[in-house]
Amino acid sequence: MISHTRNPTHTNRGRSGLSPAVSPPHPTPSEAELTPEIQNRWSPRALSTRPVPRDVTRRLLEAARWAPSSFNEQPWRFLIGDSESPEFRETLRDLLMDGNAWARRAPVLILSAWRSRLTKNDKPNRVAFRDLGAAEENLLLQAVAEGLVAHQMGGFSVSDAEAVLREHGLGSEFEVGVMTAIGLPGDVDSLDESLRERELKPRGRKPLSEIALFGGAGDNGD
Ligand SMILES: Cc1cc2nc3c(=O)[nH]c(=O)nc-3n(C[C@H](O)[C@H](O)[C@H](O)COP(=O)(O)O)c2cc1C
Repeated sequence: MISHTRNPTHTNRGRSGLSPAVSPPHPTPSEAELTPEIQNRWSPRALSTRPVPRDVTRRLLEAARWAPSSFNEQPWRFLIGDSESPEFRETLRDLLMDGNAWARRAPVLILSAWRSRLTKNDKPNRVAFRDLGAAEENLLLQAVAEGLVAHQMGGFSVSDAEAVLREHGLGSEFEVGVMTAIGLPGDVDSLDESLRERELKPRGRKPLSEIALFGGAGDNGD
């Protein structure tokens, strides 16, 4: 059955105390009731410019740090531009493609990177990008728990991002990951019409029966 109930934590404050617990404009139409952080996560474009205190951002990164990774390699790295490092944040902002101009408002931008070879034997680490994804998801879910919103982006200049990595001590063994915009939820009315329309569109997913093949193909798990 499709659940359209808003999560009961909706009226609580996020853990950071910065804002009420966040939830998407349309409740996530999940096929089962999920843990609140998953149920209330979405990728917004309306962000407040209000600064996010460093200790809160550090908690998000601490959540990322505790993600599982193959051989406990922890191939992820994060470069953070926030209100206390406005020049570096501007450097990250300048990487964004025009279609992600909305993210320039974000008080925190994080550029991620991943080490493509194992430290123990320098062989290619086939699953390193997957490990980065797990760490990023931890960060996103912690953000929701804190009353923040976070939106990942692949739309930025990868070649310029690579130069930023090199300039900041991450050598050629590191690849560019994604950019994440983080902040408090913003006013949807501050967006231009086309972004507002996208922001208010119901979110969707492929049905579970399409992506989960119980017992292999042909068994839909019912
Ligand atoms: C690796 C990755 C790259 C993405 N790149 C962009 C992007 O450049 N711009 C954008 O607006 N959204 C981007 N998104 C957000 C997706 O569009 C969004 O997650 C998807 O539409 C599902 O919506 P939801 O996160 O609200 O559930 C990206 C998401 C991921 C995971």
